[in-house]
Amino acid sequence: MNQHTRPQSISEQADHLEEEMMHELERVVTKSTLHYLSDGQVTMDTSAGLWAKHPGAVFNMGPDPRLPPMPEKPTLIDYFMCRFAQHAHLLQSATHALKAGCDEKVILACLLHDIAVVSFIRCDHGYWGAQMIEPYVDEEVSWAVRTHQALRFFPDEAAGYPYPEMYVKLFGDNYKPEPYIVAEYERARNHKWYMTSRLICINDIYSFDPNMKVNLDDFVDIVGRNFRQPEDGLGFDNSPSSHMWRTMMWPNRFL
Ligand SMILES: [Fe+2]
Ligand SMILES: [Fe+2]
Repeated sequence: MNQHTRPQSISEQADHLEEEMMHELERVVTKSTLHYLSDGQVTMDTSAGLWAKHPGAVFNMGPDPRLPPMPEKPTLIDYFMCRFAQHAHLLQSATHALKAGCDEKVILACLLHDIAVVSFIRCDHGYWGAQMIEPYVDEEVSWAVRTHQALRFFPDEAAGYPYPEMYVKLFGDNYKPEPYIVAEYERARNHKWYMTSRLICINDIYSFDPNMKVNLDDFVDIVGRNFRQPEDGLGFDNSPSSHMWRTMMWPNRFL
């Protein structure tokens, strides 16, 4: 029996593991400037600065071993499972729409309306979310996801949407939407798909119910019928938003 085929002793296994961990650590994980900006710092990771700290290190150019591994050809559901930090709000909102008898486009829009917040970025989440899904859904769905960001600040009592009390708590009494949000609202108010976006808001505000039972499985068929899952996997399909999905998959790829 030679050295390579005999079983390793405990101490050899420990050495091996330690060596592997060192290699792992050599693939230095870096942060995008946006993470620093969010912390109030205008700064960035530079290769020179990182090499001063980790001489000879190479930088992570692929998956982060600390995150759940993604399959080779990821689907929207895989992102739900492996990258969305929370689905309860999305599922509750979609469940409300389902129970209210809304059509599938509205249910899908509710299911996806805040995906930017749970996976990517908060600021302008309606715009980011719409862009992420645009190549894969009916235009009405991405339009509604984009404009819900503006509509939610403007009540429509006749449609059953008062100004959410939650927003007074979240943003204070005096919060006034910025002019670009007001302009978006005014455009949306007269649009033929206005009600689709308004229905996202209507199902949104009543969705914070900790006792409501929700299940992603209830929506797999609706996703299947209404979300054009790319054959090569979401992120590898060369669509105008593939890079956004890849960034979620590999959030600290060096370049
Ligand atoms: Fe939202
Ligand atoms: Fe929401």
